[in-house]
Amino acid sequence: MEAPGRIWFGYIAAVGIAVIGLITLDPLAFGLAVVVLGATVLGEWYRGRQAALALAAQNADLPELVSRWARGWAYARGFPRPTEVPGGVRVEVGEPERRVEWVVTDDAGTLAGLVDTVRATPEAWLSVVTDSPGSVRPWFAEGGLVAGEAEEALMSIGLADHASRKLPEGYRVEVERDGGVIAVTVRSDADADADADAAAAGGRIAVIGTDAVADRIQTDPGHRRRGLGGAVMSLLVSAAREAGAVHGLLVASEMGEALYAGLGWRVEARLVTARSAAPRTSVESRHG
Ligand SMILES: CC(C)(COP(=O)(O)OP(=O)(O)OC[C@H]1O[C@@H](n2cnc3c(N)ncnc32)[C@H](O)[C@@H]1OP(=O)(O)O)[C@@H](O)C(=O)NCCC(=O)NCCS
Repeated sequence: MEAPGRIWFGYIAAVGIAVIGLITLDPLAFGLAVVVLGATVLGEWYRGRQAALALAAQNADLPELVSRWARGWAYARGFPRPTEVPGGVRVEVGEPERRVEWVVTDDAGTLAGLVDTVRATPEAWLSVVTDSPGSVRPWFAEGGLVAGEAEEALMSIGLADHASRKLPEGYRVEVERDGGVIAVTVRSDADADADADAAAAGGRIAVIGTDAVADRIQTDPGHRRRGLGGAVMSLLVSAAREAGAVHGLLVASEMGEALYAGLGWRVEARLVTARSAAPRTSVESRHG
């Protein structure tokens, strides 16, 4: 994120109004010049503060990003607040085939003990955030865990840098707020009579302090590649910024990564997942 520039227009306007005040000797003009100058200085301070917060959030180390992402993800899905463990977090997911999940960075000391714990825990998942998925997979194999094939990506962005995408014609949008969780649903005008409940696309974002964590971004297969995913993200990000967020985090599927990269998100690390036992039903390894 670039440092915000000076609000030159405000200073020029204040000087201009003060000069008019000098020429006309009008005290009102002097008063107005002071107000404009004050508003400009205040505006610069606010923009600088937002930029500093976003920069601090971006410079966080990986375990901290993991913990902040997991907090927002759990909030978006209604899970209890994750507990901190060495190298990451433990999340009580509470689903039949995913009762508990550890999300940790790839420190060898952490993984050595954790793979045994995960193997011994029924319906447990282990997700490892790493720059090198190839060096984590042997830990899964040697620890007797069942590795998932999908590779996801932990991504982040300074929300002020997020691209803006308009909703294409023929669609309408609903925005709902539940505490700090904002949900966007897009419906097709063409589907209105056929199936009023069917959503063409949607997603949500959880705002915790200055962080916003996007989750469950999806477009119905019949409506893909028309710009709906980008529009949903733009709507979520602008609602999150209104709620005070400055920094975005998410875990992207392979398909999602292509969409988010085009909107300005960058990859912080990869995420590989394994389970304590093979799933009885097909369970997607999705965190986004
Ligand atoms: C990812 C997903 C939400 C994208 O939705 P969408 O409505 O098709 O997205 P958009 O039309 O706004 O696509 C915007 C851009 O993203 C990229 N993109 C989207 N889907 C892509 C794909 N399957 N492959 C490559 N690039 C893709 C393209 O750059 C695209 O621009 P283009 O159409 O001009 O090439 C949708 O494919 C989906 O629901 N996938 C399954 C669920 C999922 O993985 N969700 C993400 C969870 S993190």
